[in-house]
Amino acid sequence: MTFDVEVIRKDFPALNRLVRNGKPLVYLDSGATSQKPASVLDAEREFYERHNGAAHRGSHLLSEEGTEIYEGARATVAGFIGADENEVVFTKAATESVNLVAYALTSSVKAGDEILISEMEHHANLVPWQQLAQRTGATLKWFTVTPEGRLDIDTSLITERTKIVALTGQSNVTGAVPPIAEVTRLAHQAGALVLVDGAQLVPHHPVDVKALDVDFLVFSGHKMLGPLGLGVLYGKYAALEALPPFLTGGDMIEVVRMEGSTFQPPPMRFETGVPPAPEAAGLAAAIDYLGGLGMENVAAHERALTARALDALREIKGVRVLGPDTTADRGGAVAFDVDGVHPHDVSQVLDELGIAVRAGHHCAWPLHRALGVQASTRATFYVYNSREEVDALADGIRYAQKFFGA
Ligand code: ALA
Repeated sequence: MTFDVEVIRKDFPALNRLVRNGKPLVYLDSGATSQKPASVLDAEREFYERHNGAAHRGSHLLSEEGTEIYEGARATVAGFIGADENEVVFTKAATESVNLVAYALTSSVKAGDEILISEMEHHANLVPWQQLAQRTGATLKWFTVTPEGRLDIDTSLITERTKIVALTGQSNVTGAVPPIAEVTRLAHQAGALVLVDGAQLVPHHPVDVKALDVDFLVFSGHKMLGPLGLGVLYGKYAALEALPPFLTGGDMIEVVRMEGSTFQPPPMRFETGVPPAPEAAGLAAAIDYLGGLGMENVAAHERALTARALDALREIKGVRVLGPDTTADRGGAVAFDVDGVHPHDVSQVLDELGIAVRAGHHCAWPLHRALGVQASTRATFYVYNSREEVDALADGIRYAQKFFGA
C-alpha cells in the first residue's frame, strides 16, 4: 500500500459522516481515541458471526477457533514490537497495564526505595505510582520539564535506591519524545526496572522493545486503529515471571485447592476472565493495516502534518504552542493556548466547524501547571489526516479569536 491519505480515508467509515451544521468531520482527536478502518470492524464482526466461543475454555470447534484467533493476535502484537509471544499480556487498557505492574511490585518495594517518574506523565502513569509509594513507604521522585515541555533529565535522580523508572514514550500534550533508550541504560546501571507508557508512542512510531531494552511497555489498542477495551502489557519474560498475579480467577491458575492455589507462568498468570478475543482479532487487523502502511511512513506523515501545524500556529498572533516548536524528537500532539479564549470555548467553536479536538488538562494536570496554564486545546494527528485539515484547524482558531474578540 502506498501512503495516499485520500485512499486511506476511504477505509474509515466514520470519516464519511457529516457532523455539526452539516460540516464534514475533521477528526483531530486521535490521541484520545483513533477511528477504525473497515478491516478492524470486519474482524470483530466476523468473530461474533463465525467463531464466537470462549477462548481457552472449551474443546468444541468454536472455542478452539476463538483460542486460535486470540493467540494469533498475541503473536501479531509481539511481532509488531519485536517481542516474544510469551512476553505479551492482554489487559483492558494501557491504564490497567500500568496498574498491574504497580500492584504486582507492592511486595518487592519497601520504605526507603525510590520510584522515579516525570512531571510530563499522563495521570495513568502517575497516580498508580503515587499509590504504590503510599502502600509501601517508598519515595516518589520525578524529572521536571523544561519551559519547552521537554524532559529535564537530571541523572542524579537515578540512584541505587531507585526501584523503578516509569516514563512516557511520548507526551500526550507536548508531543515530546524523551530519550528512553538513554534513560533505560542509566536506570539499568543503577539496578532499576523501566516501564514506558507507550500509549502515544506505539501507534505512531516504529518500536522495537529489544532495541529500547525497557522492562515493561504498555499501550492501548484503541489509539492505534483497534477496538476499545483491549490494552497490552509487554514485559521481558524474566521481569513478568518475577511478578505475582494482579487479577485472580479462572484460567490464570495452575492448581486450585480450598486451601490455596498456584498460578500459571506468564502471560496467562495475568489474564483471567473469558479472553476478549474479538477485540484481539480487531487489534490484529489494526496492526496488519499499520504494517501495510509501514510505521516509518506513518511517522513521516505525522511529522509533515506536525511541521505544518507548528508553522501555521506560529503565524497566529496570541497562540502559544505548549511544547517543542520543531519536529525533532516530537510526535504529533500539538497543544496550544489561545490568549484570552478558554480552551473549552476554542474547542466549542472548532466543533461548530466540524473540527474535533480535545480541551482541558488532558489527564496531565501537573504538566499543565509546570507550563503555566490551567488547560489547553489539543490537536492530534494520525494516518487519515490531511494537510487541508491542518489548515482548517488554523483557520478555525482565527475564527474563534474573532468570535471572542480576542
Ligand atoms: N489519554 C487520552 C488522551 O490523552 C485519552 O487524550
